[in-house]
Amino acid sequence: MAAGRLQGKTAVVTAAGQGIGRAIAEIFAREGAQVWATDVDVAKLDGLTGTSRRKLDVRSEGDVATLQHEVGTADVLVNCAGYVTHGTVLDCDESTWDASFDINVRGMHRAIRAFLPGMLERRAGSIVNIASCASSVKGIRNRYVYGTTKGAVIALTKSVAIDFVARGVRVNAICPGAIDSPSINERMRATAAATGQTYEAVRKTYVDAQLNGRLGTCEEVAWLAVYLASDEALNTTGHVHFADGGLAL
Ligand SMILES: NC(=O)c1ccc[n+]([C@@H]2O[C@H](COP(=O)([O-])OP(=O)(O)OC[C@H]3O[C@@H](n4cnc5c(N)ncnc54)[C@H](O)[C@@H]3O)[C@@H](O)[C@H]2O)c1
Repeated sequence: MAAGRLQGKTAVVTAAGQGIGRAIAEIFAREGAQVWATDVDVAKLDGLTGTSRRKLDVRSEGDVATLQHEVGTADVLVNCAGYVTHGTVLDCDESTWDASFDINVRGMHRAIRAFLPGMLERRAGSIVNIASCASSVKGIRNRYVYGTTKGAVIALTKSVAIDFVARGVRVNAICPGAIDSPSINERMRATAAATGQTYEAVRKTYVDAQLNGRLGTCEEVAWLAVYLASDEALNTTGHVHFADGGLAL
């Protein structure tokens, strides 16, 4: 049997319970990685066969330290945990700001601080951060604090990449467009209920923003993550990569 593209690598994935993180955990395992699939809601990890499943809340330094202790050195860290808050600057009070930054940005900071030292010892490692087109790439209506956090994720990615490029560790960001995940469908239903539109009408507005005329799939994001995690991308660091159906054009 041909070796998988991630054969021999140990990979940690946050927010692997559903959506993009789950597709990444599944496809990484199929490509031969030893995957540590983690999520704040451990029940969501059920059925992720071929992976080691653990509870990890990216808001908890203790959870991150416990996992790192168990895993030891990881070859790959995928920071996927992220939370979407709706609204403009006028809707964003201090606690909303803090909660968004705590999950979307500080969660990545915590995980990188835990797993980077082992990568540096080996002079090898790949960190993949899931950002978004709603970020420094593009203003998206009613995504004020979410887009601000994801812009910070891109800056964080470039900062860590430049600091450690000469020591064998690569750091890249992925910006998905609108991806057909459980949470985007929940958001469409909530918008439909709040605005008196049908779910189908709201879904059409998301689809119309994708220049290729459809939502992306979680698997399409996962395949980009496979590339960035693998040795195929050894000369690639500090960049933003898109799986966005043309949303950012
Ligand atoms: N779906 C999209 O259209 C889209 C677009 C651009 C970027 N993204 C980004 O991709 C990532 C995944 O999004 P998705 O829509 O596929 O997933 P999702 O929102 O459907 O699922 C998120 C998962 O994160 C977990 N989670 C929530 N809080 C957590 C925490 N504190 N610690 C650990 N896990 C936690 C949940 O339990 C859930 O399993 C996020 O960072 C999101 O911002 C998604």
